[in-house]
Amino acid sequence: MVATYRAALVGCSRMGAFIDNEVAGNASVALPYSHAAGYEACPRTDLVAGSDMRGEVLDRFGERYGVDVSHRYLDYRDLLANERPDILSIATQPEQRAQIILDAVAAGVRALYVEKPLCASIDEAYRIRDAIRAAGVALNMGTNRRWQPGFRTVRTIIASGAIGPLRSIVVYATGTLFNTTSHWFDITQYLCSDASPTWAQGWLPGSEHLVDGDVVTDEPNGSGAYGTSTGVTVHFLRTPRPNDIEVIGDYGAITAWGAGTSFTMRARPAEGGNWADAPYPDFPKTSSTLHLIEDLVEALDRGDTTTAGGIDVAVTNMELIFGFIESFRAGGRRLDLPPTSSTARFHRSGFQARTPRFAAPA
Ligand SMILES: NC(=O)c1ccc[n+]([C@@H]2O[C@H](COP(=O)([O-])OP(=O)(O)OC[C@H]3O[C@@H](n4cnc5c(N)ncnc54)[C@H](O)[C@@H]3O)[C@@H](O)[C@H]2O)c1
Repeated sequence: MVATYRAALVGCSRMGAFIDNEVAGNASVALPYSHAAGYEACPRTDLVAGSDMRGEVLDRFGERYGVDVSHRYLDYRDLLANERPDILSIATQPEQRAQIILDAVAAGVRALYVEKPLCASIDEAYRIRDAIRAAGVALNMGTNRRWQPGFRTVRTIIASGAIGPLRSIVVYATGTLFNTTSHWFDITQYLCSDASPTWAQGWLPGSEHLVDGDVVTDEPNGSGAYGTSTGVTVHFLRTPRPNDIEVIGDYGAITAWGAGTSFTMRARPAEGGNWADAPYPDFPKTSSTLHLIEDLVEALDRGDTTTAGGIDVAVTNMELIFGFIESFRAGGRRLDLPPTSSTARFHRSGFQARTPRFAAPA
């Protein structure tokens, strides 16, 4: 008989449970999108419990997903002790994530689906990596585009050689560094076959005042560039273009429009000639969240920790975020990566969680 894995959720708010009510109809998103909706849709997982510090959010989660009040927890440590989940989702804000991950690993959780970015400092990222490696836990971070079929097709086309050797990637809209640019760092890592970043040069336009000594007091805007061990340069621009990305090789380029809503390609034959529009293959519009969960289920089935994401990818994402911050702190100097000695830390003292949209759109 095929095993069904016990899944539980810490952080039952927007990305944890209710964001489908916000993103339904968004052309770049295929539902289910929240963690809970993903477990609900996956035949190999049972969503058995949830934890949130906000009682109303917890109860609305339980009512929506059929999780009885006896399996709802205000303190996630009680959930870990009582429920012994196979898979734990952590959809809190980044400042709370490290301790919950470390407690989950200590409690014997075998797979983690954690939101991005991984945590709030480089030191935390390395402590998480050490714990996860030592315990042999599978992990995927919620940088959804890595599991979005349109972007998977881009990587397949690059690997086929159809645009020649990859040279540059341009990200045309970055958003805030932690909660949004983490997505763009990840998809560019993915499109570079996760080649190690070797340097970064960053600046924080209009957000310079948010770096107060070692503390990043709110979400900064990030711009800059990084380079990979394979010689690709990735540029992050703040422009009004809505989440477009371009990958450029010696004789072709692919543009992902609107966070992967659609894709176009231009190329020329390797032997020479003019660049011209080229056909872009069809791809299925299926749920990235569901694919991410299936990836964890497959790792559990095999009994290993190999996934399309993984802890090393999640840590590299943190190294890029803090590479940009440390480059800014060094006067905009180009820095070698990884920024192992970074002492900066993300900490928003006045952060108020939003009330999720509990009801589906009419
Ligand atoms: N993958 C995506 O496309 C996507 C989209 C939106 C948000 N996110 C990410 O998801 C994360 C959460 O975002 P959100 O907008 O849902 O956040 P939110 O602030 O609305 O919700 C976080 C929830 O976590 C709860 N929480 C905090 N500490 C807790 C603890 N110790 N125990 C139990 N519950 C705790 C809070 O009460 C809150 O309800 C962020 O990191 C964000 O970047 C990802």
